[in-house]
Amino acid sequence: MPFCALSHLDCPRCGARHDADQVQGTCSCGSPLLARYDLRLVASQVSPGDIAGRPADLWRYHELLPVREPGHVVSLGEGMTPLLALPRLGRALGVPSLLMKDEGLIPTGTFKARGAAVGVSRAAELGVSAIAMPTNGNAGAAWSVYAARAGMRSLIVMPAAAPAVTRAECAAAGAELYLVDGLIGDAGRLVAEAVARRRGYQDVSTLKEPYRIEGKKTMGLEIAKQLGWRLPGVIMYPTGGGVGIIGIYKALRELLELGWVSGDLPRLVAVQSAGCAPIVTAFQAGAAESEPWPDAATVAFGITVPKALGDFLILQALYATGGTAVAVTDEALLADQRAVARLEGCFICPEGAACITAVRQLCGSGWLSGSDEVVVLNTGTGLIYPDTVPTRPPVLSPSGAVPALRDRGQPEG
Ligand SMILES: Cc1ncc(COP(=O)(O)O)c(C=O)c1O
Ligand SMILES: [Zn+2]
Repeated sequence: MPFCALSHLDCPRCGARHDADQVQGTCSCGSPLLARYDLRLVASQVSPGDIAGRPADLWRYHELLPVREPGHVVSLGEGMTPLLALPRLGRALGVPSLLMKDEGLIPTGTFKARGAAVGVSRAAELGVSAIAMPTNGNAGAAWSVYAARAGMRSLIVMPAAAPAVTRAECAAAGAELYLVDGLIGDAGRLVAEAVARRRGYQDVSTLKEPYRIEGKKTMGLEIAKQLGWRLPGVIMYPTGGGVGIIGIYKALRELLELGWVSGDLPRLVAVQSAGCAPIVTAFQAGAAESEPWPDAATVAFGITVPKALGDFLILQALYATGGTAVAVTDEALLADQRAVARLEGCFICPEGAACITAVRQLCGSGWLSGSDEVVVLNTGTGLIYPDTVPTRPPVLSPSGAVPALRDRGQPEG
């Protein structure tokens, strides 16, 4: 059995087939390309038991990933994040079987490390020596560090409003970094123009190369594995460019085809902010594609994507699984960010908190019921967004004292 069962790339819009062993961008029709594997070969040679015996990182699924040679893997130990039960919060919301896949515990602190590990490894394997990308911050940070580890140059352009710590990570890793006084689409235009002028750079913008999604699909593979090769009823995902939700959908379909899971696919839920909800609007209209969202703004910065290249793939995944799309306000998601920390001890990112608010809303509307097993994706650590929880703790003088509990209105312990 080869290390990797990648067979070709195909276009989900026009059906064209492309060579996977050349550097590829999008299809000539403009659509993202999807990696395809010889799943029959994998099913005949590999079993879930084999996977369980391998090191606990995302590369344990190497037959289903696009890197041909083990020596070409660029890794910082990414993957196999915990699938945590949230019993207190779940009971409070009305879904006792609430689980959270916590991507805050991964190199760089967000799930973007998965896409970067696989994307950079495959780009390096195909001879790419420099990558360029627009980003809302987290992806740029992740691709910068993996590029550094691969000995590759990186050019990163992010909105000035992106989380400040992601700038530091890019700069520390030696990326050529620029800020733009605009949104991710503006950064994307600047990157595309620079790549056209420079030799040797690959544009690795969201879904403009085929392998980032392969890294992100491992979230779906891990959820199934962690549930004992069983699928949950619902998966909720904070959706910006949509790579994560498209990747999870792709992973679950591959697992069905392999025969490693059976039954209905989970209902997939795209969660967006009320300040940028193009997928929600399109879903409600039953549309196949989204319209650009004007004046996009939300504290959940990673999901500030006014028009996603893969919008039609996100919508297909929602329609095909009987899922839905939900918009939540910044105020509500910030309150839930605190609720998760207070009730469950997890300091999650605002994008992840948006999913908790969406669970709250869907319980309220009856779309979710108490018997549903619901998995939410927390896509990153709250540590990246320290400003989302303003604090004003009292300052004590060194000769002062901590107030007694009764002075705080609490009984003495
Ligand atoms: C923390 C976080 N969550 C979610 C997203 C949205 O990701 P996707 O492109 O998979 O929709 C991003 C993208 O920047 C992010 O940084
Ligand atoms: Zn095409």
